[in-house]
Amino acid sequence: MDVKLRQMAPADLPRLVRMYETFEPKGEFQGLPPHTPEQITEWLGKLQQPVDYHFIAETGKRVVGHCYLCGGPKANEAELAIFVHQSVRNRGLGRALLLGSLNYGCKELQLSRVWLTLLGSNPIAAHLYSRAGFRLIHEDQPAWELDMERPSNCAKCKGKRCAIFSVVLPVTITIA
Ligand SMILES: CC(C)(COP(=O)(O)OP(=O)(O)OC[C@H]1O[C@@H](n2cnc3c(N)ncnc32)[C@H](O)[C@@H]1OP(=O)(O)O)[C@@H](O)C(=O)NCCC(=O)NCCS
Repeated sequence: MDVKLRQMAPADLPRLVRMYETFEPKGEFQGLPPHTPEQITEWLGKLQQPVDYHFIAETGKRVVGHCYLCGGPKANEAELAIFVHQSVRNRGLGRALLLGSLNYGCKELQLSRVWLTLLGSNPIAAHLYSRAGFRLIHEDQPAWELDMERPSNCAKCKGKRCAIFSVVLPVTITIA
């Protein structure tokens, strides 16, 4: 199956809402994604500020993955979250979408730090983030609340020599 990874356009919003309507499980990731279509639309609507950047994975006309970088109080920092529809999980899509989004954040947005919080037991997301270079902000955190961060402009990640965020969006990948 070919999946295109790219920055989201405003016209993609209704298809993204449709992905979340059938997304499972709902509400387990800091209350996200919300349960009802109205709540999903409201949540995504609030994330459409000029400092928010969205990336989607689509196969044909269907959106199957979503990652976003949300600008915070500091201009060069962003919070990240990623969701891949259960119908296509564990086939490498999350990793490719995560790296492509981080690549964009580093090269295009010149972010110096991306952070996130993982609540509860989520070994797959913890593995995905760790493998992409995210580290605990405080080593003594309880395992059910992981505040993780990743610097962008690291020595391995400058210019075309970037060895970490190898995926440059837009890109089409093939998954099994
Ligand atoms: C987390 C999520 C985005 C991952 O997407 P995905 O497309 O399934 O991810 P990938 O297939 O690229 O990678 C999954 C990785 O987890 C690993 N994995 C699978 N099951 C695992 C487990 N039980 N424990 C640890 N790692 C596991 C896989 O081996 C793979 O790692 P690898 O590339 O080193 O082999 C997806 O599971 C999801 O949307 N989950 C629900 C929402 C969520 O948890 N979001 C993150 C918090 S906001």
